[in-house]
Amino acid sequence: MLNELSLNPQNVLLITDANVDIEVMKDAVLKSKINCGRIDTLFFGPANKEDFPELQLKIETGHPEDVEIPSEAYELIKDADVLMVHFCPVSGKLIEKAEHLKLIMTNRGGVEHIDVQAATSRNIPVVNCIRNADAVGEFVIGLMIDLTRDITLSHNLLQEGKWKREYYNSAQQKTLGNSTVGLIGLGNVGSVVAKKLLALGVHTIVYDKFVSYESLVKKGLGDLEYTEDLDYLLGTADIVSLHLRYVPATEKWFRLEHFRKMRKDAYFINSARGGILDYGDLVTALDEGLIAGAALDVFDREPLGDDYPLLHRENVLLTSHLAGTTLDSIALSPYILTRDINEIIEKDIPDRIVNFKKITL
Ligand SMILES: NC(=O)c1ccc[n+]([C@@H]2O[C@H](COP(=O)([O-])OP(=O)(O)OC[C@H]3O[C@@H](n4cnc5c(N)ncnc54)[C@H](O)[C@@H]3O)[C@@H](O)[C@H]2O)c1
Repeated sequence: MLNELSLNPQNVLLITDANVDIEVMKDAVLKSKINCGRIDTLFFGPANKEDFPELQLKIETGHPEDVEIPSEAYELIKDADVLMVHFCPVSGKLIEKAEHLKLIMTNRGGVEHIDVQAATSRNIPVVNCIRNADAVGEFVIGLMIDLTRDITLSHNLLQEGKWKREYYNSAQQKTLGNSTVGLIGLGNVGSVVAKKLLALGVHTIVYDKFVSYESLVKKGLGDLEYTEDLDYLLGTADIVSLHLRYVPATEKWFRLEHFRKMRKDAYFINSARGGILDYGDLVTALDEGLIAGAALDVFDREPLGDDYPLLHRENVLLTSHLAGTTLDSIALSPYILTRDINEIIEKDIPDRIVNFKKITL
């Protein structure tokens, strides 16, 4: 069905933001199998990347209607056949104005900014971009080693002229190869982390409510220890890492009762989203010594501000939502997306379409 995009010239509307250069978006669609006719471009949000996190959190935790977009979009969408956005919300109100729209694409993995239901009701496919699972996966392995082996802690002390060889966790330190890791959520990112851990010979237990052991075997991940018992994972792992998506059902999903089930010498990592963890409960868990330490790349408030309760703790490693931001995964994401679009057009691979089960192709 989407092969018609390669036949006749299509009006393309590109809406970018501070994270992705419009010239990259344009180049990617021009080089794709989409037969581009007119190309219109718009810019959404603050000009500076540094000013984006607050808006990002609002978009990810709200509804596409909640955030204002350039008013010209409502005019330009009328003639558009193809829409590509990065973070710009695509609301039902915008979709309603579209008269010919055949495809909505986003350079992001998450689709919280798109009213997929409205697109589905108009039979418009939505395609997302699996762009930074590798970047996050590598970063998470880095956090595991840094947190358990005190790399940043030692670095910071050396900057202050202090040569220290004993740390809060020295008595329990072991190699990652002799540790057991528990992964909660085995989607794009969780699977990458699992693959890398297997390659490093790390015993890895995985829990995902919606993934079967059979599907893991198909992905070549049959050597993982698969469990349907979350309590077992929590009570066994030396490191517990969260990889769920933030949706209403996962709001503050990980909380005190889970920390209580973890081992007192275990570490906790969240690189997924701030919304899925109760940060107040994490503070309690650390204060009460329910766990040994934590590494966090995402928060309930971004940026943190000077009074953030997890700052200045030797057993907490913090990074500023960096896990997925390599050049090849964000800035160049339009090329990853159009590579997938080409496959859908050429080889008709509908399962790369977010709403493929609900639309007629
Ligand atoms: N820190 C960063 O820079 C960064 C970058 C990219 C992605 N992320 C985040 O990483 C997380 C994972 O991304 P992804 O692409 O792998 O998502 P995904 O949707 O592919 O995977 C999520 C997995 O969680 C599972 N799941 C959902 N509810 C569950 C529950 N109640 N119990 C157990 N499992 C459940 C799903 O079955 C799915 O397999 C997301 O929150 C995403 O926003 C962070």
